[in-house]
Amino acid sequence: MTTVLVATVKPFAPQAVEGIKKIVDEAGYEFRLLEAYADQSEFVAAAADVDALIIRSDKATREVIQAANNLKVIARAGAGYDNIDLEAASEKGVVVMNTPGQNANAVAELAMGMIVYFARKSFSGKAGTELKDKKLGIHAYGNVGKRVAAIAKGFGMEICAYDPFIPDEVIQNDGLVCLKSAEELYSTCNYISLNLPANEHTVNSINENLLSRMPVPAVLVNTARKEIIDEEALLKLFEDRGDFAYISDVAPDCKDVIEQKYPGRTFFTPKKMGAQTEEANINAGIAAARQIRDFLEKGDTTFQVNK
Ligand code: 3PG
Repeated sequence: MTTVLVATVKPFAPQAVEGIKKIVDEAGYEFRLLEAYADQSEFVAAAADVDALIIRSDKATREVIQAANNLKVIARAGAGYDNIDLEAASEKGVVVMNTPGQNANAVAELAMGMIVYFARKSFSGKAGTELKDKKLGIHAYGNVGKRVAAIAKGFGMEICAYDPFIPDEVIQNDGLVCLKSAEELYSTCNYISLNLPANEHTVNSINENLLSRMPVPAVLVNTARKEIIDEEALLKLFEDRGDFAYISDVAPDCKDVIEQKYPGRTFFTPKKMGAQTEEANINAGIAAARQIRDFLEKGDTTFQVNK
C-alpha cells in the first residue's frame, strides 16, 4: 500500500493534519504522522518504508533520502527548500516539490507585525514612530514580498522593490517604485524587508556593502533565512551605527552577543513562526497532499524544484 508520512518537528495546526489525512485516505493511501520528534534519527527511521513525504523545515538530508527505499516524492509544505538535499533526491529519482505562495500571507503579516511592534517600542508605553510616509524596501518581489507591499500600502508607507527576476512592469503596476539594483534599494529605504530564498547566490549576500548604505534610522527585517545575512557585517553595523536595528523571525548565530551589547535594537522570535498560522498550515499542507496525489496518480510535476 502506498504510504504518505507527514514529518513535522514543528507540527501543523490540527485542522491542517485532518485535511491532509482526508486527502490521503480518499486516495486510498496509508497516512502516517511523526510530529515534534526529538531526534533526527526518528525521522530517518520513520521515512524508511514510505512512498511520499510531507515536510516543513524538517531536514531531508542525504541520510534520510538514502534510507527511504520506496521514496518517490517529497512535498515541502512551504516555499523554501534549502532544507532538502536536492542532489541526493535527484540521484535517487525522487521528485521534490514545494507549495509556493501557500503561506506567503502569514509570513508577510508577521513581517509587518514585527515592524509595528518594533516601531512602537514593543508596546511599552514609550513614544515610538509611525510607519506612514516611511520608506520600505522589498528585497525580492515573490509571493511574500508582494504581500508585504500590499499590507504596507495600508500603512501609507512609500514602497520600493528590487528583484532581478521580476519584470519592472509587474512591480510598477502594483504601484511601487522599481529600483534597478540592491545597492539602490538599500541606499533609499529606512526599512528593508528580506524576502529572498537561501541558495548559493544569496547566502551571506546581505553584506556590509548593502547594509552600510541604509539611511538613518535603519531597520532590517528578516522573515527569510538567517543564512542570507553576513553576520560579520551585521556585527560591524551594530558597532558602527547606533541607529541600526535588526528584527528577525530567524535569530542570527550571534544573537547573544548583539542582544547583550546593543539592547533595544533587536527583536527575534523564539522559533521560526512566519508560516505558523492555521490558514497557512491548512493551505500549504493540503496543497502538499494534493500535489503528492496528483503526482502519484497522474505524474503531475508542476511544482517540482529538482527538474
Ligand atoms: C517557508 O519556507 O515556507 C517558510 O519559511 C515556512 O517554514 P516552516 O514551514 O518551517 O514554518
